[in-house]
Amino acid sequence: MKKFRMLFVILFVFSVFLTACNNSDESSGTDDSGEETSSKLEIFSWWTGAGEEDGLLALIELFEDKYPDIEVENAAVAGGAGTNAKAVLASRMQGNDPPSTFQVHGGEELNASWVAAGKMEPLNDLYEQEGWNDKFPQDLIDMVSVDGNIYSVPVNIHRSNVLWYNKKIFEENGLSAPTTFDEFFDVADQLKEKGITPLALGDKEPWTATHVFENILLAKLGPEDYGKLWTGELSFTDSKVVEAAEIFAKMLGYINDDHSSRNWQDASQLVANGEAAMNIMGDWAKGYFVNDLQLKVNEDFGYVPTPETDGYFMVVTDTFGLPKGVENPDDVKKFLSVLGSVEGQDAFNPLKGSIPARIDADKSKYDEYGQDAMADFSSSTLAPSLAHGSAAPEGFLTRVNQAINIFVTQLDVDQFIDSLETAAQDL
Ligand code: GAL
Repeated sequence: MKKFRMLFVILFVFSVFLTACNNSDESSGTDDSGEETSSKLEIFSWWTGAGEEDGLLALIELFEDKYPDIEVENAAVAGGAGTNAKAVLASRMQGNDPPSTFQVHGGEELNASWVAAGKMEPLNDLYEQEGWNDKFPQDLIDMVSVDGNIYSVPVNIHRSNVLWYNKKIFEENGLSAPTTFDEFFDVADQLKEKGITPLALGDKEPWTATHVFENILLAKLGPEDYGKLWTGELSFTDSKVVEAAEIFAKMLGYINDDHSSRNWQDASQLVANGEAAMNIMGDWAKGYFVNDLQLKVNEDFGYVPTPETDGYFMVVTDTFGLPKGVENPDDVKKFLSVLGSVEGQDAFNPLKGSIPARIDADKSKYDEYGQDAMADFSSSTLAPSLAHGSAAPEGFLTRVNQAINIFVTQLDVDQFIDSLETAAQDL
């Protein structure tokens, strides 16, 4: 009997010891002053590697300087436009294991997924406390709000409708950057004749093709009708959507043969190296050109709005919020405060290629491209990106990406329009 009691005491002491270890390991305990300490701040995104991570690392560094006691875990999952990260995030959110904070596009990706599922905390108090309500453009605040509640903080504004071109190729061949589709095909024919790949595409991840297509849609429909596609007011069988698909099919006749084995960086690299003349990509490509490939804006590469979209700005905004049920909401708010500060935005955006989401950031920190993008943002009609989650719910985007993937190889306009129309029934 005595032996049993002894064994019980040993087991009890051991289990108390284990629990204590676990607690100090995992998270909340108390520090010397008796104050609550908290767990790691897990920042979830898809910003890894070339063209993606520099801005995030600068932001994390700034945060760590301000809060050296908070341990940060950079939990990025590689894959452009969140190809893999979004799936990992979905399974974690469904399993009630949210990261402390995560990258999410303003608009439907945030609102129709996580807000609608009741998984996000409103941040109105934080906006109030930081004086942000008049520091972010109202359009942007609207994109991250539902019924008057604000659910995330935008770190940037990327522009999706940009055509990048290799300056040397254009100069040597006496060409000017195309502003219409007629000009595009004219330039493309001349380049093709000279044996130069006119347009670089890397659709190993199909979103890049959706990205090109959404730009043609915006051009042909204009922002108003483009917007009606997502509310069901305009059908995908509309003649202007068909025309956009036809232009897209024609463009695909001018791309690199190995497009399906390249990602967006590999495709941008073709333009950087002079192996292709142009590509259509968001301005994270500028971050890649300048920071990773050391190219010079307006010397090595130039930029214009994608054909027939001058005066329109396709908005991609990366934002971060506070999921419900995290262990360290106060630390997350501290991170969001830094991310939403002028200093945070100006540490992040010059490296990322985007412009600050705040209206009062320090413009002198941005290069010629950034200055142009800021001016265009304030003077253009804005349109939400489909390929980057803002215009329509995730389920619809997934189906568009699938349809695009098939279209790129089969070039069957009727079948493509059919698939889009079928997918739109669920919008
Ligand atoms: C977008 C994102 C950008 C950039 C890009 C390529 O969806 O908003 O910040 O990372 O994907 O991955």
